[in-house]
Amino acid sequence: MKLLVTGGAGFIGSNFVLYMLKKYPDYQIVNVDTLTYAGNLENLKSIENDPNHVFVKADIRDAAKMDELIGQGIDVVVNFAAESHVDRSIMEPDIFVKTNVLGTQVLLDAAKKHGISKFVQVSTDEVYGTLGETGLFSEATPLAPNSPYSASKAGGDLLVRAYHETFGLPVNITRCSNNYGPYQFPEKLIPLIISKASEDEPLPIYGDGMNIRDWLYVEDHCSAIDLVIHKGRNGEVYNIGGNNERTNVHIIKTILKQLGKSESLMTYVKDRPGHDRRYGIDPTKTMTELGWKPRHSFETGIRETIKWYLDNKEWWTRIQSGEYQEYYSRQYGARLGDQA
Ligand code: NAD
Ligand code: TYD
Repeated sequence: MKLLVTGGAGFIGSNFVLYMLKKYPDYQIVNVDTLTYAGNLENLKSIENDPNHVFVKADIRDAAKMDELIGQGIDVVVNFAAESHVDRSIMEPDIFVKTNVLGTQVLLDAAKKHGISKFVQVSTDEVYGTLGETGLFSEATPLAPNSPYSASKAGGDLLVRAYHETFGLPVNITRCSNNYGPYQFPEKLIPLIISKASEDEPLPIYGDGMNIRDWLYVEDHCSAIDLVIHKGRNGEVYNIGGNNERTNVHIIKTILKQLGKSESLMTYVKDRPGHDRRYGIDPTKTMTELGWKPRHSFETGIRETIKWYLDNKEWWTRIQSGEYQEYYSRQYGARLGDQA
């Protein structure tokens, strides 16, 4: 099988490429990534000499290039490429629409033209909006995105659906909850807190810190996508999540405890505009139809993740220079100076 994986130098995409090459030594992967601030070839260092992995630096909005690459005998497209950070989408929505909506449409056109056997759109539970204190997101929950990020992902999803309904393209959409694990860019909550706490720097907590996310270890997301590729019914949406709802304060206290650091680092700052209160996934369909089961509990996953960041400090200190510094002071400068 020959896969085209987009965004395979980012957090989940690189974990997925490593997972698939290990599990299927005869599969070939063409990995397309334009290497934005979030793309990092260091994530792929262990496979740089693997003949079954070809990296191509290209933008998914480049129609001629996507046509050329998908035209070279690709069976399956897995689309991870995206702008993925909510806070950046609030500062600059423009690029989110360009990559997450237009980029997806470019890939769909090339996939349609070359008659691929599966197009998997890697989406997010954030397209469903926010939950109250009860209930979970099912695949039938109406889309109600609240951030420019989630709205742009919902736009991409709707195009994927339309290419199935109109042109019969064999598609699946996966909607996963918040991931954590190795190679996550340290702007997202868990790696941000690990890196800041280990340097004894203040930990910015938005609002009252009681927002809830449903955390999944990245490898469990990869195993679900693998099953969707092989067993997903065309046209279907699959929700992915491991029933691990935690408040942000709980996550931060867990990390501080494991690092042996003081809770006095916790710093409440002005809330994120449009901040979704709670996400929670009902994964029943993915579990019963595809036989998926997460292998990592939150407790083991977070322990392994903290250890990975401590063992790979060079990986994230290299990232925390240049563009990251500029982003960090734009995002947090005023907030940390003007605490809630
Ligand atoms: P990430 O930001 O770490 O990686 C995104 C990758 O896409 C980067 O390598 C970047 O260089 C690449 N990219 C961006 N724009 C591109 C373009 N125009 N052309 C080619 N490559 C481009 O993101 P992630 O956390 O790994 O998320 C991957 C996917 O999974 C995204 O589609 C995201 O919406 C989805 N998702 C993420 C989570 C999560 O918790 N991180 C949860 C559910 C779904
Ligand atoms: P994040 O990792 O950005 O993921 P998402 O917003 O896509 O769920 O944030 C996870 C939660 O942590 C979210 O409720 C916002 C909160 N948060 C903070 O309190 N402080 C921070 O510095 C960041 C980045 C996030």
